Amino acid sequence: MAWQAIDRSRPAVPEGAPPVLSEAVKEKIRAFFDRYPTRQAALLPALRIAQEAAGCVSLEVMKEVAELLGLAPSQVMDTASFYTHFWPHARGRKVIVLCRSLSCELMGGRAVADAVRRELGIDEHETTPDGQYSFMTEECLGACEHGPCMLINERLHSRVSAQQVPAILQDPDNDRLDIAPSSLYDPPDDRGRTDQASAGGTENR
Ligand code: FES
Repeated sequence: MAWQAIDRSRPAVPEGAPPVLSEAVKEKIRAFFDRYPTRQAALLPALRIAQEAAGCVSLEVMKEVAELLGLAPSQVMDTASFYTHFWPHARGRKVIVLCRSLSCELMGGRAVADAVRRELGIDEHETTPDGQYSFMTEECLGACEHGPCMLINERLHSRVSAQQVPAILQDPDNDRLDIAPSSLYDPPDDRGRTDQASAGGTENR
């Protein structure tokens, strides 16, 4: 996320605006407080939960997370703007993350990125008009020997060629996972239920 220029003559978040995060979402964040020595240490899971609920980490979301954790909004912005996975504006339903590190680059990653841009008509950190896809590049995705690598949401596509890109993007199941998602960010009370659901063969995407 790029640095944002803020007009100090006007409040960044309108006074009296309705809250973005529901009480249920705030309660989910509060459930993490006991896991950490300080509230600030719970900031990353709080941001992740907030982004899942609100679709992005807007200024309004940053302010509400700051209030919840007893932090200054600037502390929340510092953290949210450091990590590329927190989006300050709305994302598409599927986020394409292309690896831009050396192994993937040597195996043709740049041509794959050009093909994605061409197929979707968007550049990095942009979203297609239908809200289906957003696109970004990222440093190593941890699968260097399978490059070029591309994530669609949490599904890894490996050894992707530029010629394969149109077919991959047209596949409605291109983000489908055949394994259960991590329960790391589930509140303690929900983890058991998630694990049971996974053990029972719940299909996850
Ligand atoms: S260099 Fe691309 S996954 Fe590591």
